[in-house]
Amino acid sequence: MEIVICKNYEEMSKAAAKVAADVVNHKPNAVLGFATGSSPVGLYKELIRMHQEEGLDFSKVTTFNLDEYVGLPGGHPQSYRHFMNDNLFDHINVPPENTHVPSGTAANHVAFCEWYEKRIRECGGIDLQVLGIGSDGHIAFNEPTSSLGSRTRMVTLTEQTLDDNARFFKKKSDVPRHAISMGVGTVLEARKLLMVVSGKNKAPALAAAVEGPVTSMITASALQLHPDAIVFCDTDAAGQLKMRDYYLWIQKQAGRAN
Ligand code: F6R
Repeated sequence: MEIVICKNYEEMSKAAAKVAADVVNHKPNAVLGFATGSSPVGLYKELIRMHQEEGLDFSKVTTFNLDEYVGLPGGHPQSYRHFMNDNLFDHINVPPENTHVPSGTAANHVAFCEWYEKRIRECGGIDLQVLGIGSDGHIAFNEPTSSLGSRTRMVTLTEQTLDDNARFFKKKSDVPRHAISMGVGTVLEARKLLMVVSGKNKAPALAAAVEGPVTSMITASALQLHPDAIVFCDTDAAGQLKMRDYYLWIQKQAGRAN
């Protein structure tokens, strides 16, 4: 796993966006996996800038999102479909029919999840999966004790995730308790993983994920099993990394930012 410590959120977002742009430039029909939440917003802003100012072309790209709240239709302002349209898809030239966000309102969730996995395979698998990390160490909505082999399915959110995500809703009781989420096993099949992490409140989860044991209690620790995972974090999020100086030394040798 490569760890890149950036000065701040903006630098982190730009450096991470460059990795995503390189994938698209190298493979114009790339399949990109996206996450929602505060962490990747800056990355998406930078991709939009690259599209508008540098002609980064998404016309052949296909996308798959990690998760969606159960019960929220795509038009709901707090749905992840709405988030993606608002923060990325509406501002780049990806064909809307090429964008996939799990449905939170399918009549049959089990059948939907099977279809979602099949659709990822039909599209050739995910070339690059963007990830954030929850303060409880989750990736996608794979809460502590999710199997590291799990596939797309309906999950129950932890109290901590409900607390963390309440900021997007009028009140905590409005946050749906369930979500459709890609599994850890689904995420691990992406050819490249790109995680963005910022802020002091993520420092314990990041340290546990990168330097702790691989455990279903911190599903982000599964990144340690992936042959091509890169983590961009800011200095606040890096605050509890024991090997911080080592990562900084390596990134200096590699000519990366900071
Ligand atoms: C969202 C997702 C989650 C978030 C995580 C961090 O699609 O899969 O795992 O990445 O909860 O959220 P933020 O970035 O809002 O702190």
